[in-house]
Amino acid sequence: MNDLHFSTRIIGADFEKPDAHGALALPVYRNAAFEFFDSEAIAAAFRGETGEHTYSRISNPSVTNFERKIRAASGAESVVALSSGMAAITDTFFAIASAGSNIVNSPHLFGNTFSFFRSTLAAFGVEVRFVDTDDPAQITDAIDENTCAFFAELVTNPHLEVADLPAISKILREKGVPMIVDTTLIPWCVFDAKACGVDIEVVSTTKYISGGATSTGGGIVDYGTFDWMCNKRLATMPQPPSGVSRFTHKLRSEIVRNLGTVMTPDTAAMQTLGLETLQVRYERMSATAHELARHFSSHPKVVRAGYPGLETSPYKAVSDALFTGNPGAMFTLDLASKADCFRFMDALRVFRRATNLFDNKSLVIHPESTIYATFTPEMKRTAGIEETLVRFSVGLEAAEDLKNDIERALDAV
Ligand SMILES: Cc1ncc(COP(=O)(O)O)c(C=O)c1O
Repeated sequence: MNDLHFSTRIIGADFEKPDAHGALALPVYRNAAFEFFDSEAIAAAFRGETGEHTYSRISNPSVTNFERKIRAASGAESVVALSSGMAAITDTFFAIASAGSNIVNSPHLFGNTFSFFRSTLAAFGVEVRFVDTDDPAQITDAIDENTCAFFAELVTNPHLEVADLPAISKILREKGVPMIVDTTLIPWCVFDAKACGVDIEVVSTTKYISGGATSTGGGIVDYGTFDWMCNKRLATMPQPPSGVSRFTHKLRSEIVRNLGTVMTPDTAAMQTLGLETLQVRYERMSATAHELARHFSSHPKVVRAGYPGLETSPYKAVSDALFTGNPGAMFTLDLASKADCFRFMDALRVFRRATNLFDNKSLVIHPESTIYATFTPEMKRTAGIEETLVRFSVGLEAAEDLKNDIERALDAV
């Protein structure tokens, strides 16, 4: 399968077992439990020897089908699908972090991720060390014998900074620290995570993958590249059966089933369809976003346009290298004031005021007053959140209509 192109691989990925009726779309397994012929068979399934499904909080055929398609898309060793992007992030760190350990990462993060690190994990005695990920020396200096992970958003939301992962990976390999990256903003059709040194990928499948914001979901993608025994904070993870890493084994056999963060079968069925159309949607959305960002970067009422593909972006070179010049469907505009941002957004007619990303519909939001509304001024400063910034997520409407909508709304400012 690996010599096939992206969409062919996803669409052609086989079911776990052939369907009894030869259905082309896997029927939705909307059930909680599975019956066994005898006691030894159910005991063997619980010992993990047969790969049979037992209970849908542990695994389910519809969810497994979705995970197999993500494996085909990413080239990963194993994939775990979950109820949301935040579930993917929290489960990953509950598997890896322990009291006294620390995580090194940029403070420029999606709001709930920032809050999870600063509040939730801190309460369990896990330290978060904020660094500027553009400065390799800061990363090197922050890592010590208690560092259990480096974490980054591949493209930060909403700042649109792009981490130079191949360069950072060299530091982490030397120090024996796994690289965990949130790739929600750039999908696998243009980004090869494994080649960039990513060990574990977390992704909100709510966004590009769901296929029109049908449902919330998340994925943890394990490339099988990290030697978990080389880091003393991670070497205590139990020995897995062959075929999975220590991390994925702990995730599946302990964390996911104890926290109950599973994806539902209905969500898996919807997002499987979304995954099959990912590449065509992404290419169209990304091209439109690029065009809009370029066009409005020189508008007299725009103070600054943010998009990694713009010549003015300090991240253009790294973005071109990592994303084959196709850096996604999110861009930002800074206006002169918060009041201008509100006036502008209220005048939009095609863009919808909503807080998601990569729906088929184009969306707009003012992050400072919404996603970061509960942050103190100090937290906003640390997270790099400005009140003059408007964030756009570009959908599948005609580029011309979106351009006219923004043009008209800027006239209202
Ligand atoms: C970069 C990033 N990571 C994670 C999440 C969380 O995803 P979810 O809403 O599916 O929990 C989001 C949500 O917007 C996001 O933008």
